[in-house]
Amino acid sequence: MNILGIETSCDETSAAIVADGNKVYSNIIASQIDIHARTGGVVPEVAAREHLKAMPYVIDECFEKAKMTWDDIHGIAVTKGPGLIGSLLTGLSSAKALVLVTGKPLIGVNHIEGHIYANWLGSESVNKHSFPILVLTVSGGHNELILMRDHGDYQLIGETIDDAAGEAFDKVARLLNLGFPGGPIISKCAKEGNVEAYKFPRAWLMDEGGTRPKEITNFNFSFSGLKTAVRRTLLEILGEESHGLVHEGNKNLPEKILQDIAASFEESVVDVLSAKAIAAAKKFGVKEIYLAGGVSANMRLRSKMSELSEINHFKLFYPKDLKYCTDNAAMIACAGYYHISKGERDDFLTLDVEPGLRLVKK
Ligand code: KG4
Ligand code: ZN
Repeated sequence: MNILGIETSCDETSAAIVADGNKVYSNIIASQIDIHARTGGVVPEVAAREHLKAMPYVIDECFEKAKMTWDDIHGIAVTKGPGLIGSLLTGLSSAKALVLVTGKPLIGVNHIEGHIYANWLGSESVNKHSFPILVLTVSGGHNELILMRDHGDYQLIGETIDDAAGEAFDKVARLLNLGFPGGPIISKCAKEGNVEAYKFPRAWLMDEGGTRPKEITNFNFSFSGLKTAVRRTLLEILGEESHGLVHEGNKNLPEKILQDIAASFEESVVDVLSAKAIAAAKKFGVKEIYLAGGVSANMRLRSKMSELSEINHFKLFYPKDLKYCTDNAAMIACAGYYHISKGERDDFLTLDVEPGLRLVKK
């Protein structure tokens, strides 16, 4: 079964054709990074307009690359939320127009569910995964620990009470004047740095404060204190001359200091994410752990999780291709396949976007 996926929740316009939930025939992504880098973040109105411009080309190229026609397509999966309302609307409107013309079945997909299913893409052992699976979702807007009990059956174990991990990377990159998006740039800069150069806090959210608790029982996250600590450290280094203006002063900072701050910051994020994920995996008796979302591309997170998973006998999965970690339509087509093959359908007249959609209701 071939599914056309459409993803426009934030700043990537993407269309993909995926067969049987894992074989990717095409996955076209038009990135707006260069446009948003000028403003240091995504401007929603600009993002929506860019989606509108890119969509026809992206869909055209998607069919061309897959060497397929509409006769080959069995359904259309589109991101319905969470995300930026204007961006989501461009994707859903495109999908509705296509359904109107072709009469293909339509399914609205939760973006976070898509990130989870990115672990299936290109995987040979697609039906050999054993539920329940512990999922760590780490993206720009979301940071959760989820117990996936079956396809479409999720339990929330913990979530961030302030910033998501990717958001923390983006905000700290801004403080360090490194550019946008922050994750890949910080992690590149961190490679040359010393993780112990700065003692940044770890928010365990337990009575022990910054000290690692013997047993982790709180599975929520918090990264805003860490961001403030980086800011305070920068101001101390820059001294009174900075007049509290972190950005300008950074331009004169030696590279070694930036590298050390980036490495120490990254280590703090990875330390908390991995310790809590492993503790949750033990508590809920899973065999498999999935990383999902943009920050699953982070090499330090991958290596720390691999190391801890091996010690604790968990099988670790993360998306095979770095392109499947950040926003893409192949993951939406994959998640959509599991819904459509169960007979689920959305009515193209009534399906609406849900910018605040959650994977698990509280
Ligand atoms: O999943 P995603 O593409 O979009 C959302 O759904 O939010 O995630 C984007 C986030 C950004 O915050 C970006 O800085 C982060 O993922 N990211 C990374 C890396 N690559 C992307 N964070 C850390 N290390 C990376 N290598
Ligand atoms: Zn995403």
